Amino acid sequence: MQLQLQPCSCQSPSPRHLTSSSLRSAALEQRRRRPSRPANKCVVRAGKTADGPTVAIVGVSGAVGKEFLRVLTERNFPYKDMKMLASARSAGKQVDFDGQHYTVEELNEQSFKGVDIALFSAGGSISKKFGPLAADQGTTVVDNSSAFRMTEGVPLIIPEVNPEDIGSLKAGQGGIIANPNCSTIIALMAATPIHKAVGIKRMVISTYQAASGAGQAAMDELELQTREVLEGKQPTTQIFPFQYAFNLFSHNSPMGPNGYNEEEMKMVKETKKIWKTEDVAITATCIRVPIMRAHAESLNLELASDLSESKAKEILSSAAGVSLIDDREHNRFPTPLDASNNDDVYVGRIRRDISRQDECGLDLFVCGDQIKKGAALNAVQIAELLL
Ligand SMILES: NC(=O)c1ccc[n+]([C@@H]2O[C@H](COP(=O)([O-])OP(=O)(O)OC[C@H]3O[C@@H](n4cnc5c(N)ncnc54)[C@H](OP(=O)(O)O)[C@@H]3O)[C@@H](O)[C@H]2O)c1
Repeated sequence: MQLQLQPCSCQSPSPRHLTSSSLRSAALEQRRRRPSRPANKCVVRAGKTADGPTVAIVGVSGAVGKEFLRVLTERNFPYKDMKMLASARSAGKQVDFDGQHYTVEELNEQSFKGVDIALFSAGGSISKKFGPLAADQGTTVVDNSSAFRMTEGVPLIIPEVNPEDIGSLKAGQGGIIANPNCSTIIALMAATPIHKAVGIKRMVISTYQAASGAGQAAMDELELQTREVLEGKQPTTQIFPFQYAFNLFSHNSPMGPNGYNEEEMKMVKETKKIWKTEDVAITATCIRVPIMRAHAESLNLELASDLSESKAKEILSSAAGVSLIDDREHNRFPTPLDASNNDDVYVGRIRRDISRQDECGLDLFVCGDQIKKGAALNAVQIAELLL
């Protein structure tokens, strides 16, 4: 099947090698467009076609589920039919996609009859229960939860990094493919081109993670708290036990006995699986910051051999899905707003690690939209590999 990957006219241009004035106008343009870009109003229509797959969205009412619909539209993803699935809470609600109204159905054991591809984003327990059940019925599952990421035999895919690991899996033939953790995807989009060029021996990661990573309810709470704090009210704390607005805190995932939380350990384990090596040392500190929807990460890389700054820039500027914003003169580097609603992962602050005597250390600062490239876009790109 021929995929038509047309750029969506409502996407900002990729700021690869932008000058400072064009960067400023690109940033202004992004800000101008963002509020006026409601879901499903993109002018490119998704490709309803008789020989496309039937696609189910599991968790369509959630933050990632809504983003699936936008990304499928933007990428003109071919489909024969769509099924919108969520919990009983959303059953009966209307969802608009590609100019048609769909009624959300409650997920159950019968939901996958005739479904070729299911995009899951309804939490790990739902994936564990319904993923294998769907796969047994011939549905090929692309799962956004952590349920199967480390399961042997389940490919863990970033399409720009390890598309070959998907093997012979195809739409409508069963099987489960896992989408990596959003922080892992964003880090590896930048680190993998360097790793492939010279080898990375050790990686020290610090994250600055957005509310969107904790779902729609966390985004709503950040907005509400911001208003409450500005109005001098006590902030509502239902999702996180702390005040989130005007604050930051260690990632809310469970803490392990070694003092690392689950998010940090996901980055360590998933990177080794995706790079197919145990010979890389990784440590991470994951922090939740009051940003709405894009993660930032600082990466300190110890390289297996010398790499100059200019060569690193050259490698990153030709990497798929990566854009550079690295303007030292104007102190202009990636921000979460640059990444928000955009496909690419933005990289800057590309500099030699001066704590080393050699040229085997490199620092990077990376921003990526974690609902998009960290979740929905990556999953849809995986689905494209199944066609
Ligand atoms: N947010 C991210 O950036 C991100 C990134 C990577 C992976 N993920 C993963 O994606 C999943 C969803 O995340 P999210 O941020 O989209 O969460 P969310 O905004 O809280 O949405 C959760 C979705 O799951 C549905 N759901 C909950 N219980 C269900 C049930 N019993 N049966 C069917 N559907 C059910 C909800 O439906 P109702 O509205 O009907 O309750 C909703 O559509 C999680 O596994 C998360 O770890 C999220």
